[in-house]
Amino acid sequence: MSGQRSIVSRVVDASLELPVAPSFTRIGPMVRSRLDAWTALDSYDLSGRTMVVTGATSGIGRHVASRLAGLGAHVIAVGRDDAKLERVVDELCAEAGRDSVVGEVADLGDLEAVRSLGVRLCAAHPVLHVLVHNAGALTADRRISPQDIEITVASQVVGPHLLTTMLQPSLRAAAPGRVITVSSGGMYAAALCIDDLQMGDDYRGAEQYARAKRAQVTLNEMWAQRVPADEVVFHAMHPGWADTPGVATALPTFRKVVGPLLRTPDQGADSIVWLAADPGAPLSSSGAFWLDRIRRPIHRLPRTRRSDAAERRAALWSWVSTTAGIDATDLPG
Ligand SMILES: NC(=O)c1ccc[n+]([C@@H]2O[C@H](COP(=O)([O-])OP(=O)(O)OC[C@H]3O[C@@H](n4cnc5c(N)ncnc54)[C@H](OP(=O)(O)O)[C@@H]3O)[C@@H](O)[C@H]2O)c1
Repeated sequence: MSGQRSIVSRVVDASLELPVAPSFTRIGPMVRSRLDAWTALDSYDLSGRTMVVTGATSGIGRHVASRLAGLGAHVIAVGRDDAKLERVVDELCAEAGRDSVVGEVADLGDLEAVRSLGVRLCAAHPVLHVLVHNAGALTADRRISPQDIEITVASQVVGPHLLTTMLQPSLRAAAPGRVITVSSGGMYAAALCIDDLQMGDDYRGAEQYARAKRAQVTLNEMWAQRVPADEVVFHAMHPGWADTPGVATALPTFRKVVGPLLRTPDQGADSIVWLAADPGAPLSSSGAFWLDRIRRPIHRLPRTRRSDAAERRAALWSWVSTTAGIDATDLPG
């Protein structure tokens, strides 16, 4: 069996193991938007709000940035590739009909780049209303960051944790600011692990991706326990299975199998934009995990629930903070 088929079969198998797979397809938002009479995204007015979106150069993140700018927000689009970012920012401004999007370059897997981004954003924006942690990828072969951290964990767990920490003053100044983490339903298959969070020689891309996504939803809950919800709310979410360049590259066979049932990137972006804009449920709760504007459990399997012990959570927070070079006394709680 090739490495690629192995990844596909793991992702599909993990999903089929759960009774939720059809809900992840475009059937989910089609049915729920009617049943729950979703507020149209176009009805939100985000004028005067400043919002940061990572991974804004492709797929779901690009659609989030476009939607937020279209609703009047000032959007800071973060991308890792200078030329690509410049092109996308031009496109986003053209779509919004005004210069409402600016670009900031940073590779979220490089802690020095994240630190520099945090310094620049704090200096330029004493008030930030929304931070969307969307950047992410499923990496087939084990790679390490400039700081010798496995790249999935570096770019989707440690880097975002550092950025969230650095932006706390600006987010709190928005009272309440909102931090939204784009996780994945793939995390349902993963136990909370610390010792093997960076997966070594036996690296399996899909499993490592799921571990990182599990760590994201755990940290989301922990942030919410530490920061009062009237200062900053924290949300994690699953966008569903959306047809994006990331899926085409990392999971071509999965894309072929699920085919027309995949969501559009805009459908994948819906709950992120809703969490960033709606004055109701997204502000009256913190630490939740969402799919299609509905709060979801973070465990569906007994073995992952068993793994989620208080001491393991504490160890995760401690490891991520130490690895990010954050002085624990700088952190809330
Ligand atoms: N699509 C789905 O079905 C699905 C399902 C569950 C969860 N998700 C999550 O949704 C998010 C968006 O995924 P997508 O499907 O839209 O993928 P995508 O089309 O590949 O977009 C991913 C974005 O993240 C950026 N990115 C990746 N690694 C980065 C890094 N180290 N530093 C900075 N930027 C980085 C990419 O930059 P480049 O443009 O330079 O590549 C791109 O802008 C991810 O967190 C993914 O895990 C997606």
